[in-house]
Amino acid sequence: MSATETAAGTPTVARAAAPSGGGEPETVLKVDELHVTFSRAGRKIHAVNGLSYRLQAGRMLAIIGESGSGKSVSVRALMGLLPPSASVSGSAVLGDNELIGLDERSMRALRGSEIAMVFQDPARSLNPTMTVGAQVSEAIRMHSEVSKKEAQKLAIEKLRLVRLPAAERRYHEYPHQLSGGMRQRVVIAIALAADPRVLIADEATTALDVTTQAQIMELVLDLQHRLGTAVIMISHDLGLAACYADDVLVMYAGRAVEHARTAQLFSNVRMPYTKALLGAIPQVGAAPHSRLNVIGGHPPDLGALPEGCSFRDRCPRATEQCVERPPLDEHEPGHRFACWHPVDSKEELQ
Ligand SMILES: Nc1ncnc2c1ncn2[C@@H]1O[C@H](COP(=O)(O)OP(=O)(O)OP(=O)(O)O)[C@@H](O)[C@H]1O
Ligand code: SF4
Ligand SMILES: [Mg+2]
Repeated sequence: MSATETAAGTPTVARAAAPSGGGEPETVLKVDELHVTFSRAGRKIHAVNGLSYRLQAGRMLAIIGESGSGKSVSVRALMGLLPPSASVSGSAVLGDNELIGLDERSMRALRGSEIAMVFQDPARSLNPTMTVGAQVSEAIRMHSEVSKKEAQKLAIEKLRLVRLPAAERRYHEYPHQLSGGMRQRVVIAIALAADPRVLIADEATTALDVTTQAQIMELVLDLQHRLGTAVIMISHDLGLAACYADDVLVMYAGRAVEHARTAQLFSNVRMPYTKALLGAIPQVGAAPHSRLNVIGGHPPDLGALPEGCSFRDRCPRATEQCVERPPLDEHEPGHRFACWHPVDSKEELQ
């Protein structure tokens, strides 16, 4: 960010990112034994199966995993955004509030003010018939009793905060007049309208080109540090997680299977599934036309989860012991993984 932009556009800082003195930042969200089951055509679909984690102020947690592993359902459960066919149990404490089982009225009060979400497609998140400024102002007025004029001023500040170029002019424009990257900035401004403690970005940059994607991630990182916002980033993209997240949680069949600080996880992968995910990334320098590694087999049927380790049908290291489910234990300080026969950190990653 340029000095001019900082001077012109930085509104009041909402929360401090980290405690002075360099101690551990405050834990803002505690998720324990979260379960989500859908009833579909007489079957029970076990989408999330005992997920637990902590999220700290000013830090970014990346949740990664194959399609269908339960990433989106797990965060929608926190926001109370699942359909009636979903049955949710466990605990998710945000500040002083237990989110699981909260009535819709109380949840609506927390959505935006305490926890907010940005989705993949900015075009669908915005109302095409309203100017972007009016949409940010409306979000501000939903959470605080300010006049229309004051809301407009605050909305322009928010649009500057997310570094929307020419924010005052753009305030009066409609979504179709903005590029995809600008629209996603507006969506983030709306999400930040009431300074939430937790911002969830569910594949928020997937629809954008690589350059815009990097700009949006830099923006999120900057907001996270300046405002102390805790971020959950959901992505298929391990590269993004490696670049931007402080912590990484790998999900498989609705469970966390590996969870550590980002550098620790990527330098010392222990869970065979994480190793397989990394092996599925195209390698720079691979011979032209060489085949991508894909993880063999399919994720298990969430309607009939096998006993034991859910990865065992696809795992090259599986033994009879894997018929018993491995616990997600902290085997090394700060590094949790669920596996009876972990990858040796000295083995070369394929
Ligand atoms: N409304 C629903 N009814 C029944 N099953 C659902 C519903 N929503 C999600 N599921 C199931 O829950 C599982 C987890 O879905 P989820 O959307 O969380 O996956 P994901 O990890 O976010 O995948 P992706 O990376 O493709 O977004 C999937 O098997 C999905 O089919
Ligand atoms: S517990 Fe067994 S099946 Fe599961 S990942 Fe480890 S070795 Fe593979
Ligand atoms: Mg998803």
